[in-house]
Amino acid sequence: MKLCEIIRADAQGVARAAQTLLDGRLVAFPTETVYGLGGDAESDAAITAIYTAKGRPSRNPLIVHVADLAMAQRYGRFEEAATALARHFWPGPLTLVVPRTDVCAASPRVSAGGDTIALRVPHHPVALDLLRRFGRGIAAPSANRSGRISPTQAEHVAEEFATSPLRPSLILDGGATKIGVESTVIECRQGRVSILRSGGLTQEAIHAVAATTAASPRMADALPSPGMLESHYAPRALVRLGATEVRAGEALLAFGATTLAAPAMRNLSPTGDLEEAAHYLYAYLRELDASGAPTIAVMPIPEEGVGVAINDRLRRAAAQRA
Ligand code: TXA
Ligand code: MG
Repeated sequence: MKLCEIIRADAQGVARAAQTLLDGRLVAFPTETVYGLGGDAESDAAITAIYTAKGRPSRNPLIVHVADLAMAQRYGRFEEAATALARHFWPGPLTLVVPRTDVCAASPRVSAGGDTIALRVPHHPVALDLLRRFGRGIAAPSANRSGRISPTQAEHVAEEFATSPLRPSLILDGGATKIGVESTVIECRQGRVSILRSGGLTQEAIHAVAATTAASPRMADALPSPGMLESHYAPRALVRLGATEVRAGEALLAFGATTLAAPAMRNLSPTGDLEEAAHYLYAYLRELDASGAPTIAVMPIPEEGVGVAINDRLRRAAAQRA
C-alpha cells in the first residue's frame, strides 16, 4: 500500500507545507480538534481538489481557517455576538458561520455557492504557524474520505487516502490531536445565534459568554449544517448504541468502570472523564473496526459537556448507511 508522505511539523516542514499550498496543492495538517485537509481558500482549483479528494458532495460547504480575527474579517462580517464569541474563544474549537463580506476573496465554492462563510482560528501551534506563513485563509474539512471517521493522527490521514487517486501532497505530523472531536459550529447572522453542530466547545461555555451579548444561542432545529444530514463518522462495522451487554461476535467500546468484556475492547475513559473519551473516540473506533468484528457495541455516555458531541458523532456513526 503506497501512503502519502508524512513529514515532521518543524519550521522546515511548515515552510514546505506553505509553499505546497501556494503551488495550489493540498496539505493535511493538525489542529486541536482533528486533522484538516487544507487548500488555498482563495483558489477555485484547490477547493475543487478538496471536494474530489474527499468524495464530498459540493453542496456541503467548507471551514476556512484563519490566523486571527483580523484575517477572519477580510472574509466574513462579524456582528456583535460573533465578535464577542470570536474574542472569547479564538483560538479554539469554535467555527463561526457569518455573512460573506462584499470583498470576500474566498472561492464561492467554500460556501457551496451560499452567502455565508464558516471561519475558525485553530488552537494549535503548527496550524497557526502555517496560517501565518501562508498569509491567507486555508479551507480545510476533516482529512477523511466523506462519511468516514475523522483522523486524529497523521497515520489515519495516510490510511484514508491510501487508495485515493487524489490525495494530500504531504501530511504535517503534529502527533495526536488534543480534543479529538470537531469544532462546534455556530451561525451568527441577523442578530440570531444558532448552534449548527455540537463539538469541542461545550454549550455550557457558549451560553456563559453569549449571555453577555444581546443574542442568546439556541440549538438549530430547522437547519443543521449541511454536513450533518447524512450517515457520517462511520466505521465499516455496524454501531450499536446504549449497550448494557455484549452479544456474540461484537467488539466493545466501553466507558467508565465496567465488568463488560469482549475479545476486541477499548475503554474511552475507565474513570468516566468525558474529555479523555473525546480524545480517544475516533482512534478507538478505528482500532475496533480493524478487529474485523461486524458490530461495535458502545456503552452509554452521559449527555453533558463534550459528551453531547461524542453522542452526536456516535448516533451518526450508527445511522442507516446509504
Ligand atoms: O474541527 C473542525 O471543525 C475540523 C478541523 C479540521 O478544523 N474541520 C471540520 O470540517 O470538521 P468538516 O468539513 O468536516 O465540517 C465542517 C462542518 C460541516 O458540517 C459543514 O456543513 C459546516 O461545517 N459548514 C461549513 N460551512 C458552512 C456554512 N457556510 N453554513 C453552514 N454550515 C457550514
Ligand atoms: Mg468532517
